[in-house]
Amino acid sequence: MIDELISKEEIHSKVKEIAQQVSRDYKDKDLLILGVLNGAFLFCADLVRQIEMAHTIDFISVSSYGDETISSGTVTIEHKPKKPIEDKDVLLVEDIIDTGNTVDYLIKTLSNMGARSIRVASLLSKPSRREVDVPIHYKGFDIEDLFVIGYGMDMAGSYRGLPYIGVYKDD
Ligand code: IMP
Ligand code: MG
Repeated sequence: MIDELISKEEIHSKVKEIAQQVSRDYKDKDLLILGVLNGAFLFCADLVRQIEMAHTIDFISVSSYGDETISSGTVTIEHKPKKPIEDKDVLLVEDIIDTGNTVDYLIKTLSNMGARSIRVASLLSKPSRREVDVPIHYKGFDIEDLFVIGYGMDMAGSYRGLPYIGVYKDD
């Protein structure tokens, strides 16, 4: 059974709010939206359709979870961005920040690649789980320590297509 935690409508209005803020903040900047695959693909797709300024889009993929629901804490890049990062104002787009290890690693990596600026947009955050302090410039919702699925997020590969965010209940 799946319990709905955040509705489609709540997601939609929050994404719109974030897109408006990003459009204001990045006016006159060379914005590169960098979606973190796979979980952020829907958030990223909805976000860019509401950003009202020129930007480029690329994706990066990292691994730390495998099919486990608990982070291994070790992050490796599986798919590098195709577009140059140098001198770009990068907005990292994440589905959820849990321990913070992934975003911390990505910020350091992108900085080494010569990004001019790096900011983080994350639809969800679990503050109680944080191991590394990471900045979240654009945040959708804080949630409790629950494993969530839907709107791009999976459990062993399933449920990414759910239009809402839910909690899987084993019963
Ligand atoms: P962190 O490195 O521990 O912050 O983990 C970040 C990544 O773990 C996120 O980008 C997600 O892909 C995944 N993750 C963390 N919590 C959840 C969850 O509740 N559901 C689905 N994926 C999650
Ligand atoms: Mg992710």
